[in-house]
Amino acid sequence: MRTHLLLSLITITILTAFGYAEPAESTSKPSILITGANRGLGLELCKQYLKQGYIVYGTARKPEKATELQATDTIILPLDVTSQESIDALAQQLRGKPLDILINNAGYFGPNPIGTRMDAIWTLSREEIENCHAVNTMGPLFVTKALIPNVQLGKMKKIINMSTCSSMLSRKGGGAMGYRISKAGLNMVTVVLSAQLKQLDIIVISAAPGHNKTDMGTDMGNLLPSQSMPQLMKVIDELTMEQTGGFWYYNGKNLPW
Ligand SMILES: NC(=O)c1ccc[n+]([C@@H]2O[C@H](COP(=O)([O-])OP(=O)(O)OC[C@H]3O[C@@H](n4cnc5c(N)ncnc54)[C@H](OP(=O)(O)O)[C@@H]3O)[C@@H](O)[C@H]2O)c1
Repeated sequence: MRTHLLLSLITITILTAFGYAEPAESTSKPSILITGANRGLGLELCKQYLKQGYIVYGTARKPEKATELQATDTIILPLDVTSQESIDALAQQLRGKPLDILINNAGYFGPNPIGTRMDAIWTLSREEIENCHAVNTMGPLFVTKALIPNVQLGKMKKIINMSTCSSMLSRKGGGAMGYRISKAGLNMVTVVLSAQLKQLDIIVISAAPGHNKTDMGTDMGNLLPSQSMPQLMKVIDELTMEQTGGFWYYNGKNLPW
């Protein structure tokens, strides 16, 4: 029995030395999953976390069309956050794999880009409110529910819900109703989950990325994702349990609800 164990150890050492077996370090890399990773802020986060040596899982509704993401070392997984079947399939694929960080980034603004028509009560459609709610509020809630076992296996145990300053109840103004209502709902998801997941040592926050030049943010954004996302990553990196249940701007400022 002892000879057998010794022989196995010698074999593993020789295989590792000649590059045939994975050295232990490669499995101890931190890991992250980012939803909505095929463009915009999600894509930038994938690139930046890869640079930092993370194993990066990035989701896309249509992985075959995610050409920019394909050009990176991101492990691309299919996900539509509005489909429970799709969320279950993702959880199945990730079964037993640790996730240090989960970023619920996928989001939907509505059919009218920022700066065009303001949706108001007179023109509002029920379908639009439901769409925003399904992507921005229920999406992160059920993705998180499915991936809690993975976050528990991770060392950092951090969940980031990508919100927006326009979700703040203290911010007056009347436009983008579906978006703002659904992101305010997301903030409540953060508050409730943070209280429930504290017992599992999991930190949950809402984050606002600033106004970025992306498809959603349009050219009116005053930030490039390559400027804002490294700052947000620093905030995420420095998060402690004292900050769970809070709302943080990309530059580290604590935001009011
Ligand atoms: N850009 C800003 O200035 C700004 C400001 C405040 C907050 N945010 C928030 O930051 C996050 C990222 O914004 P962004 O500017 O990068 O937006 P974006 O350029 O419009 O990208 C949105 C991403 O979400 C994905 N997505 C949409 N619906 C989905 C669904 N049902 N299931 C899965 N993925 C879905 C999109 O996938 P497809 O390509 O398949 O549509 C895309 O990957 C969003 O949550 C947004 O609300 C952005």
